[in-house]
Amino acid sequence: MDSVGPLGLQQGDGAPGCPQEALPCPSNSSELVQECLRQFKVTGAQLRQIQASFLDSMEQALSGQANPAPTVRMLPTYVGSVPHGTEQGDFVVLELGAIGASLRVLWVTLMGTEGHRMEPQSREFVIPQEVMVGPGQQLFDFAARCLSEFLDALPVGNQCLQLGFSFSFPCHQTGLDKSTLISWTKGFRCSGVEGQDVVQLLRDAIQRQGAYSIDVVAVVNDTVGTMMGCEPGAGPCEVGLVVDTGTNACYMEEARHVALLDEDRGRVCISIEWGSFSDDGALGPVLTTFDHILDHESLNPGAQRFEKMIGGLYLGELVRLVLAHLAQRGVLFGGCTSPALLSRGGILLEHVAEMEDPSAGAARVHTILQDLGLRPRASDTELVRHVCAAVCTRAAQLCAAALAAVLSRLQRSREQETLQIAVATGGRVFERHPRFLSILQETVMLLAPTCDVSFIPSVDGGGRGVAMVTAVAARLAAHRRLLEETLAPFRVTCEQLAAVQAQMREAMARGLRGEASSLRMLPTYVRATPDGSERGDFLALDLGGTNFRVLLVRVATGGVQISSQIYSIPECVAQGSGQQLFDHIVDCIVDFQQKQGLSGQSLPLGFTFSFPCRQLGLDQGILLTWTKGFNASDCEGQDVVCLLREAIRRRQATELNVVAIVNDTVGTMMSCGYEDPRCEVGLIVGTGTNACYMEELRNVASVAGDSGHMCINMEWGAFGDDGSLGMLSTHFDASVDQASINPGKQRFEKMISGMYLGEIVRHVLLHLTRLGVLFRGQLTQRLQTRDIFKTKFLSEIESDSLALRQVRAILEALGLPLTSDDALMVLEVCQAVSQRAAQLCGAGVAAVVEKIRENRGLEELTVSVGVDGTLYKMHPHFSSLVAATVRELAPRCAVTFLQSEDGSGKGAALVTAVACRLAQMTHV
Ligand code: G6P
Ligand code: BGC
Ligand code: BGC
Repeated sequence: MDSVGPLGLQQGDGAPGCPQEALPCPSNSSELVQECLRQFKVTGAQLRQIQASFLDSMEQALSGQANPAPTVRMLPTYVGSVPHGTEQGDFVVLELGAIGASLRVLWVTLMGTEGHRMEPQSREFVIPQEVMVGPGQQLFDFAARCLSEFLDALPVGNQCLQLGFSFSFPCHQTGLDKSTLISWTKGFRCSGVEGQDVVQLLRDAIQRQGAYSIDVVAVVNDTVGTMMGCEPGAGPCEVGLVVDTGTNACYMEEARHVALLDEDRGRVCISIEWGSFSDDGALGPVLTTFDHILDHESLNPGAQRFEKMIGGLYLGELVRLVLAHLAQRGVLFGGCTSPALLSRGGILLEHVAEMEDPSAGAARVHTILQDLGLRPRASDTELVRHVCAAVCTRAAQLCAAALAAVLSRLQRSREQETLQIAVATGGRVFERHPRFLSILQETVMLLAPTCDVSFIPSVDGGGRGVAMVTAVAARLAAHRRLLEETLAPFRVTCEQLAAVQAQMREAMARGLRGEASSLRMLPTYVRATPDGSERGDFLALDLGGTNFRVLLVRVATGGVQISSQIYSIPECVAQGSGQQLFDHIVDCIVDFQQKQGLSGQSLPLGFTFSFPCRQLGLDQGILLTWTKGFNASDCEGQDVVCLLREAIRRRQATELNVVAIVNDTVGTMMSCGYEDPRCEVGLIVGTGTNACYMEELRNVASVAGDSGHMCINMEWGAFGDDGSLGMLSTHFDASVDQASINPGKQRFEKMISGMYLGEIVRHVLLHLTRLGVLFRGQLTQRLQTRDIFKTKFLSEIESDSLALRQVRAILEALGLPLTSDDALMVLEVCQAVSQRAAQLCGAGVAAVVEKIRENRGLEELTVSVGVDGTLYKMHPHFSSLVAATVRELAPRCAVTFLQSEDGSGKGAALVTAVACRLAQMTHV
């Protein structure tokens, strides 16, 4: 097995030396050389074909085509914007892979202000060959040692350093600091690294080294560093092109064209990884026998074919193979060879660049060839230069064809006929080869005539660019930390939820006993759920949710038919006088009767009144306090059935017979109980929130009787009004409560229900904007407007089917100038707020079902909960989070959640029907 040479190419077996007798220089040696070099000639047509096939491959990869797999990878880099010069700070940069068998460490200070720049300090370390092909841990430990050695020379003290890792190999990036190596290239072949996150490997090595506290905040491909390091004055570079040991390019693509990303706005930097471009149709004809030999003898045969025709690691080798070929046929050096000429890696890029340099002159070429152990004749030097020129010209032309494809792609993705663009270039082939850039420029102009391209050499091999990306990453990482700190109080633990459950149980027990408790536990005088024998036509009112509805409910053998009409309750009526409110209600009823042709008909009426009422009977309910934005005067402390009857009297609508007043939780329980007799709990999570359940009458101190059941309206919205929820309440909750029309009241409701979640989110967004984390710290008027962030936005933003772009659309409609990072953070804020709400609601339900189970002394309880409310119904995850929390906290209860289809109006009608049936039985 051949051993591996310095360039990662196996050692050949040709024996160096001269033929027995020196071979005369064949007369046609020049033709023989030209005939040999004709292979390296690439025609305009071939270049255009390569350009076209390259463009196809780019677009196939962008569209996510997997089969056949495109030969360029088009890897998103999570770099979304070119630097805007504000980046500042000290950064350490570690470059691995950009410059062959050595790594570089830099200390870069970004001054933030335009044009004012500090020269980076740097040091290069040669990587021993055995480290380049040994175990991965050895390589990363070597890198960590070099880092420490470099920092030992600097006054860094024990500050935490931020490091940008320039890792110039094909990687799948899943974040600015998370990148998995796909495959090694360029003579590297360490084991145990491919498929691994190279940032973690470096972090582990730095940990093992333990000398400095270094935070690796970004990993960047060298092309990206080159592009980002472009002098701001030179106009933003949107393409980064590296030709060093290897070759690759990156460019700013429209995010909407990258299938891998669910983004539709802005741009993202794509690392093309064009080294792997190969297309037998396009490249086949330009591959020479020397290319095949080089590839065959490389560490990665069949891979990186395009790179092996352009990269500095290979140019010298191609020249060597051609020279060896010609020498062994007596065309050059009199048929003499040398160990350097026959051993791989014998001729380096530096040799080729110098021999080609017109200023070098034949004498210099002669010396170089002598240093390679050859004895060149006068005619050889010119022929050798031809060989160098042929190899490098082709490399520059092929590179140009690929770059021209990138420019065409940019024109397409920006729908621009002409394109003015700056390309940042980096790498020793550019720095050292005398004509590479000029050939590249000429060929690009030929292949992309409608593009005006300026080439900007990167000043320090991209070190500054990597520091720029690191600065952006550091800023984003700092923002993420601030976001996590801000949202941490919303992350409720299982222990905390169990504590809420226990506190609610105690408050329930105190409320039932009539002791001081934030849970009023109000008897509703509903003693049974429907048994299906109810019959008749009933009017029902449904007040207290998003909409006020008047319903006609027909309960017949075949089931229940409902026709209803929604009426609005203007804020001025909801917060006007009680008389005005109830007159408005009766107006709606009369309007409904007329429309339904019921005028003059006396139908029993059930009134769903979704506010805390102390009921003295089925048709007597004293309003204790308004909630949910209602605040009509002269109602609290009044029997609302009386208020309604007085309004009916004022309107002479005497046929209206109010039979029952029920809370919407009770209406919902009854409505679902009609279908499922196990439904003994009613839950509302809408504008407000509340629950009721069937309690043992013996436990209800305020109602006489020890047998049977009584439905209890818990009014759990007020849970915690005694401060018992203090440990969970955040300063955002306090701000929402302070700004509400009933500060200090309904604290549990204000952490859960639809009227408040949007406001909690808005306050969190305001806080994060003030911290500069969101919206570039710009506090817009809109964001400071109360109730501008509707709770329905949470449901929309958190819906799984919504791509980030739609999240952005919702927020932009709110006039919020945002970046994609902002949209992601807003999504996380919504998730944190709604998750807490659902978990708290789940803790409440767990308390109720456990109470019923213990009431009945059951090991296991099977029970159904009738649920209604816009938030519960519309939010994509709320219901499942509630159910999951109940399973966690009440494992001995099998709870089924039934979403009420017809609202609680039907329930009110059923309560009325039961009341009427019971009334008839007493009259019989
Ligand atoms: C349904 C019920 C109402 C209840 C409402 C709560 O509409 O019929 O009685 O008040 O849900 O939900 P919401 O989201 O409207 O406040
Ligand atoms: C790597 C690229 C790198 C290029 C230039 C190639 O071998 O795959 O990631 O950008 O070399 O260093
Ligand atoms: C009210 C309850 C009602 C709940 C749901 C709360 O604000 O106090 O009576 O059940 O909202 O609508």
